[in-house]
Amino acid sequence: MKGIGINEYGDHRALTVVDLPDREVGANEVRISLRASGVNPIDWKLREGYLKEGLPFDPPLVLGWDGAGVIKEVGKSVDTFQVGDAVFFRPELTEYGTYAEEIIVEEALVQPKHKDLSFVEAASLPLVGLTVIEALMEIAALTSGQRLLLLGGSGGVGTIAVQIAKALGAHVTTTVSEKNREFAKARGADTVIAYDINEKPEGEFDVLFDTVGGSAYAGAIPFLKTGASAVSIAGGASQNDDVSNNEEKKQIKTNNMFMQPTKKKMAQLRTFVDQKQVSPVISHTHPMTVDGAKQAHLDSETIRTRGKIVLERENEEEIK
Ligand SMILES: NC(=O)c1ccc[n+]([C@@H]2O[C@H](COP(=O)([O-])OP(=O)(O)OC[C@H]3O[C@@H](n4cnc5c(N)ncnc54)[C@H](OP(=O)(O)O)[C@@H]3O)[C@@H](O)[C@H]2O)c1
Repeated sequence: MKGIGINEYGDHRALTVVDLPDREVGANEVRISLRASGVNPIDWKLREGYLKEGLPFDPPLVLGWDGAGVIKEVGKSVDTFQVGDAVFFRPELTEYGTYAEEIIVEEALVQPKHKDLSFVEAASLPLVGLTVIEALMEIAALTSGQRLLLLGGSGGVGTIAVQIAKALGAHVTTTVSEKNREFAKARGADTVIAYDINEKPEGEFDVLFDTVGGSAYAGAIPFLKTGASAVSIAGGASQNDDVSNNEEKKQIKTNNMFMQPTKKKMAQLRTFVDQKQVSPVISHTHPMTVDGAKQAHLDSETIRTRGKIVLERENEEEIK
C-alpha cells in the first residue's frame, strides 16, 4: 500500500514514498481509494519525532489521518456502504495514514461525503471537526447563550470551532492576529480580539477552548467565570504552577484532551455539514506527491495558515 511518509524521523526532507505491506479487509472494514488527505500539525510533529513518547511509532509509516475518497472493497459484515461510494473519514492513528493511494478503515469511522463538497473540502473536515465536537460538546457541554473564549480562531481547528459554537447558540469571542480580524468575523465570530496588538477580552466566559497553549492559555484564565470549563488541545499552560493555582482558586474544570475518533462524532459532523452549519475553510491545496507533501509541511510549520491545508490526488494517480 503505497503512500507518502517516513523511513526515519527528520525534517520535511525525510518525506518519501513508503510501501507498506497490504492486508485483507476485515469484516467491519472498508478499503478506500484516497482522493484527498487533510494535513494537520500532528503530521509534521510526528515526522520530526516530537511525539515519540506518547505515540511510539517505529517507522516506516505513512502520514496523514484525515481523508476522503471512493470505496473499493467492503468487508463481509459492512451494510452501510457499497463499492463506488464517495466518503470522508478519520482513521485510527496507525502507521497506515491517508497520504496514500488507499487505506483500510473501520466502517464506523466513515461517513458518506456530502454531494456538494469536493473531495478536497471533505478531507479538510474530519480531524478538526471531531476535535471540536469532543471539546465543545462532549467535554465542555457548551450550550445556547453561553460565552465561549476561543484561542486561535483562524487555524484549522479554530475556523471549525467558531462555526460549531455558533451552531450550538453560543456567543463566540476569539483571538487572532490583527491581519485575520475580518477573516474571523466572516466565519461568524461575534467578537474578535487581536492578540498581537495586545487587545484583551471583555467580560467573563463559561468555556475556554484553547488551540494555542502556553502564555495564551495562561493569559485567558483570569477571564473565566468561577467553575468554568477550560479545554486545551495544545497542552494548556504545561504545568505552570501559577496557572494551576489560578485554576484551582476559580475551581476551573480543566481538560487536556487528545481526540479519539468515534462513530458518534463522525455522524454529528456529517449532520453539521448537511445542515450547512459547518463549511470547509481551505487555505492551500497541494498535489499528493512527495514534493506536494514537503510544501504542505513547510506551510503548516509556519503556524500561520488560515483554515486547512489539503493534499489532492487527482484521477487516482500513482503516488510519486
Ligand atoms: N489534542 C488534540 O486532539 C488535537 C487535535 C487537533 C489539533 N491539535 C493541536 O492544536 C493546535 C492547533 O491546531 P490547528 O490545526 O488549528 O493548527 P493551525 O491550523 O496550524 O493553526 C494556525 C493558526 O494558529 C493561529 N495562531 C498562532 N499563534 C496564535 C496565538 N498566539 N493566538 C491566537 N492564534 C494564534 C494562527 O493565526 P495568526 O496567523 O493570526 O497568528 C493560524 O491561523 C496544534 O498544536 C495541533 O497540533 C491537537
